[in-house]
Amino acid sequence: MAKAYINELQGHVGRDVTISGWVVTTRSSGKIAFLVLRDGTGYLQAVFAKKEVPEEVWNAFGTLTQETTVAVTGTVREEPRSPGGYELTATGLEVLAPGGEFPITPKEHGTQFLFEHRHLWLRSRRQVAIAKVRHAIIQGIHDFFDQRSFTHVDTPILTGSIGEQAGELFATDYFDLGKAYLAQTGQLYVEAAAAALGKVYCFGPTFRAEKSKTRRHLTEFWMVEPEVAFNDSDANMRLQEEFLSFIVARALERCREPLKELERDTARLETIVPPFPRITYSDAIAKLQAEGSDIKWGSDLGADDETALSKDSEKPLFVMNYPKEVKAFYMKENPADPRTVLNNDCLAPEGYGEIIGGSQREDDHDKLLQRIVAQGLDPSGYTWYLDLRKYGTFVHSGFGLGVERTVAWITGIPHIRETIAFPRQIHRLYP
Ligand code: 4AD
Ligand code: MG
Repeated sequence: MAKAYINELQGHVGRDVTISGWVVTTRSSGKIAFLVLRDGTGYLQAVFAKKEVPEEVWNAFGTLTQETTVAVTGTVREEPRSPGGYELTATGLEVLAPGGEFPITPKEHGTQFLFEHRHLWLRSRRQVAIAKVRHAIIQGIHDFFDQRSFTHVDTPILTGSIGEQAGELFATDYFDLGKAYLAQTGQLYVEAAAAALGKVYCFGPTFRAEKSKTRRHLTEFWMVEPEVAFNDSDANMRLQEEFLSFIVARALERCREPLKELERDTARLETIVPPFPRITYSDAIAKLQAEGSDIKWGSDLGADDETALSKDSEKPLFVMNYPKEVKAFYMKENPADPRTVLNNDCLAPEGYGEIIGGSQREDDHDKLLQRIVAQGLDPSGYTWYLDLRKYGTFVHSGFGLGVERTVAWITGIPHIRETIAFPRQIHRLYP
């Protein structure tokens, strides 16, 4: 019997196939029985008629419970009313393994329980839908950069120099060399690669020992970081808006069913096309103050400030030129206002907040060294990074997009912990 996957049934109409998968639900009238089956590529209803199938098949159907592993044989029929467009007129059923008392039933479970059973919860419709959208977004990210002649560069996860914030490092003993840190960013390394390859990006897991228990923070998350030689801050923002528009369009194109499963209002995503609005940090502070906030010029924007700024915006919003003191050492000083830097955050609409942090990099050797010292970092760890400003320095910019925050926004789910298969949070290391 031909083996088939549920998402390939269009090529098998009228033919007999065997599909292996897991039981989602069963229901029977006594004469006719329905099995909804899942194989990872989709969902399929198999219909068993008591009069038409051998008795042992009918009896085997009676033993099925949620998550029983089965191989179902039958004839593929077109069925416009079913979600995938096909149904199986079943002739055979083999029980491959019992489902046991599956802990995650269709009833409501608490968040704590679900995360303790994350390894099983992954099988539920909603989690499968989120995983499909995440995959499409990641594939879209690689395709976007490939189409624009970027070279993908893998940067190290074990590093000796601090990339972002000294207080948020995971450290580990590294042989005779003292401490190694888990990378907070691949940026410093892609800056070196940009001088070799022009347009580059890294894409990997990054680590922040942040004690934040918000819906936007994980201790391990995936970040894509493009870096482009001869792009200034303005070109950097144009790249970001084209990039975000591309991956939203990709999700809409390839994930119609998963987005429907997640009840995403896709009309909110159809409007994501360049250009995106821009506001300076100073204007953003004035706007927040006018709305009654007591925020002062010089403080970083918090999650609530970001939500307030972006809640009425249909498109993502660029906030530019933050004060030097609240941003990382590598950002280029703004010649028009040296209190600030040539950077931008990009805030997703619908209150999702920052999904991108980007900037033009300080390309002047002495200014960069001053900033490293001013931030209390040890310059000896940055000799190689400073070398980039000694040997053929160049205007360059880049940004980092957090995959989980982007998936949360595009799928419309409230918390980023469901956007990755096995989330890592301060209080979660299991499973
Ligand atoms: O703004 P961040 O810290 O920027 C950087 O790391 C730069 N080196 C990027 C660059 O210019 N190459 O982080 C970038 C993005 C944030 O906008 C957010 O989407 C995500 O990474 N992010 C987190 N996501 C989940 N949990 C956390 N704890 C995150 N911290 C940052
Ligand atoms: Mg940031």
